[in-house]
Amino acid sequence: MRNNMLAVIGGGVIGLAVARRAAADGWSVRVHRTAERGASWVAGGMLAPHSEGWPGEEAQLAIGLESLKLWRTGFLEGLPEGIVTARQSLVVAVDRADVADLQTVAKWLSAQGHPVTPTTAARDLEPLLAQGIRHGFTADTELAVDNRALVGALEQACEAAGVQWAPPVTDLAEVDADVRVIANGIDAPTLWPGLAVRPVKGEVLRLRWRKGCMPLPQNVVRARVHGRQVYLVPRPDGVVVGATQYEHGRDTTVVVTGVRDLLDDACAVMPALGEYELAECAAGLRPMTPDGLPLVGRLDERTLVATGHGRNGFLLAPWTAEQIAAELRGTR
Ligand code: GLY
Repeated sequence: MRNNMLAVIGGGVIGLAVARRAAADGWSVRVHRTAERGASWVAGGMLAPHSEGWPGEEAQLAIGLESLKLWRTGFLEGLPEGIVTARQSLVVAVDRADVADLQTVAKWLSAQGHPVTPTTAARDLEPLLAQGIRHGFTADTELAVDNRALVGALEQACEAAGVQWAPPVTDLAEVDADVRVIANGIDAPTLWPGLAVRPVKGEVLRLRWRKGCMPLPQNVVRARVHGRQVYLVPRPDGVVVGATQYEHGRDTTVVVTGVRDLLDDACAVMPALGEYELAECAAGLRPMTPDGLPLVGRLDERTLVATGHGRNGFLLAPWTAEQIAAELRGTR
């Protein structure tokens, strides 16, 4: 008897995580994917429920923490070493209003039962920070992963588990499978009209270390810089700097002001980055929902959905794969 066939539409981090998990549960899995590089290719790869948090986002925090636990307890099993590029986040503030913002987040996290560790000596933890940056907190369990290495590793794991690849689809009626999972990010509404997912553009830079530069940072550094936010995510060969956030339809043009603001803020936080090579500027489209929560669950008897992960696609991939696996087992 053949295994039940599952078609996953979307080959980004969410589609791949869902496919790998379903294959492990005995499904015959086919992933329909485009040749284009989507948001998973551009992402910073931070697994950061605390430092992405803000009062009012209790539900996001809860699923983010659940997913971070899965990252730390098995999701990386069987994947190559070296995917994790940082094991702590350091969140810092530049001016007094920025410090007040951080204190708001820290108090809220504490009230939720997930305290962070405050510091007034941030440069002791990350000596590359600019002089004058003192205030911040560490989120000691947060991680960062090399997004591209992870996507490649998940693809290989899927192949090893027998997952097949197929071209993208524009109509669910074309999909020959017992169950379909719509996991194609901002394109999901083209397959299921009415899904409330919209593209939110984010420009991201990749800076490459050069001989003679100061050593790479060890932590993810997130900073509030005169009201704007920037993050610096270590990679083996440099730093990912992100990200702008604005709504401009499906435009992925990298614009001058976006790059300028990111570079200004990155160098204000860590002046040594000024000596790095500006290796890449790219923009991705986050699939955002009106309430900021992902759309993960059943649409009808044969159709599930896993999209709308907004700023947290990498963080929420393990949680999403488990939710879909549970739905497929009929246990949710
Ligand atoms: N997770 C960070 C971003 O979406 O820019």
